[in-house]
Amino acid sequence: LSTFSFVESVNAWQQQHGRHQLPWQLNVNPYKVLVSEIMLQQTQVATVIPYFERWMQNFPTVEALAQATEDQVLNCWQGLGYYSRARNLRRAALYITAELAGQIPADIEELRKIPGIGPYTAGAILSFAFNQRGVIVDGNVKRLFARYFGIRGAVNSTAFSKTVWAYAEAVTPTQDNRRFAQGLLDLGSTVCKPRLPLCDACPLRPECFAWAHNQVESLPERSPK
Ligand code: ADE
Repeated sequence: LSTFSFVESVNAWQQQHGRHQLPWQLNVNPYKVLVSEIMLQQTQVATVIPYFERWMQNFPTVEALAQATEDQVLNCWQGLGYYSRARNLRRAALYITAELAGQIPADIEELRKIPGIGPYTAGAILSFAFNQRGVIVDGNVKRLFARYFGIRGAVNSTAFSKTVWAYAEAVTPTQDNRRFAQGLLDLGSTVCKPRLPLCDACPLRPECFAWAHNQVESLPERSPK
């Protein structure tokens, strides 16, 4: 009988070693979570931080963003890349203002109707903004789950993605979701790294498939060229 708990291990690690002072974690609100998660989709935390600060100074609320021109928005995004993200954020603000009375909803179906909000961002908003159950799978979570559960298949395949989402659905708790979500992302990015993961520092090592089978370096499997 194993008393090991995936959720408890992630949460305890998060409390001690995770990130707690990121600018979008301070005085959190759904708009900050939306903006930060869109910025973080293709960009590293350290790069995002100054852009996030400047964005919040220029467009502090959904209403302020909805009133901005596309030029103003693109100007503020200058240097972050993937500019469709900036256009979609503005479109999201226009939709939230016009259709939702300016309120970002705590409801997965309503969130998914907002332009530019996919399954990951919707789950992140539920978890981080509302501390509600929201399933989050990004590149870091895929790698961590591939190793922990021993999930085979190329990371970019549909089958792999489906399997990871199924595991994520199964493990995501119904309480303390903000802590758990941040713990998963922080563990994935700072401990369960693509190269030279820090297994000695990992709270999940006692039950990790890849650790037990000496496959930490070979999971997740690379996509065939
Ligand atoms: N990557 C995506 N969302 C993140 C978050 N809230 N904190 C750290 N890294 C992230």
